[in-house]
Amino acid sequence: MSIVSLLLAPTLGYVDRGILKLDNTTFDKIVDGSRAVIVRFDKEYAYGDEHDAWKDFAKKVGESSASLLSCDVGVSEYGDKDNADIAERFSIKTDDFPQYRLWLKGSGSDKSPVVYSGEKKSDAFLRFVQEKAGVWIGLPGQVKELDAIAKKFGTAADKTGLVAEAKALGMSDEAAKYYLKVMDKAAADGGFISKETARLQKMIDDGSVKPAKKEQFGRRLNVLSSFA
Ligand SMILES: *[C@@H]1O[C@H](CO)[C@@H](O)[C@H](O)[C@H]1NC(C)=O
Repeated sequence: MSIVSLLLAPTLGYVDRGILKLDNTTFDKIVDGSRAVIVRFDKEYAYGDEHDAWKDFAKKVGESSASLLSCDVGVSEYGDKDNADIAERFSIKTDDFPQYRLWLKGSGSDKSPVVYSGEKKSDAFLRFVQEKAGVWIGLPGQVKELDAIAKKFGTAADKTGLVAEAKALGMSDEAAKYYLKVMDKAAADGGFISKETARLQKMIDDGSVKPAKKEQFGRRLNVLSSFA
């Protein structure tokens, strides 16, 4: 190792934490249905905000106890075009990079994945996998015990019973209060969750809303996603 690479080594880091890089010798062995796997298809050397969001997401998943792997299929643009075969197999075009696909537990690489079409932001990825793969990572504003009750809410016949169950937990911090408020409203109005989600999203997208408020709305969106 040269002096230069010795000096550079610690700052470059060994890996992107939480990200498993796949190629055509490992893809089918990892995406085999034994656990949920989310795969990003992108250029081999991705960079920029979307890349940073993905790295932040993968690190959070990696450090959580969620049974979910975050993987990269990095397609090289030149030479051997490594991994272009895998992207092609799932009909993913280079022009559409980055693309994200989620294989649920129980569906291996021979099954169709869930296509991600949301915002390329860390919290949006987290909400997606929690919702679709049913794993728990814990987003800002979310409370595990209340989240478990919220998940049953949509299909429950006895919603007031669930509200009572949630209240009986005796939690009273800001996050818990919001869950209880949402449960009360959703019990009375079946369309509340989708209306409130749309309303908050609109305010987050509004340039005139203050950053601190946007953060609060983001935490609320995280809570609402538990009810989806
Ligand atoms: C697997 O990837 C290698 C390296 O890019 C490539 O040479 C090979 O043709 C690929 N195999 C298949 C079956 O596509």
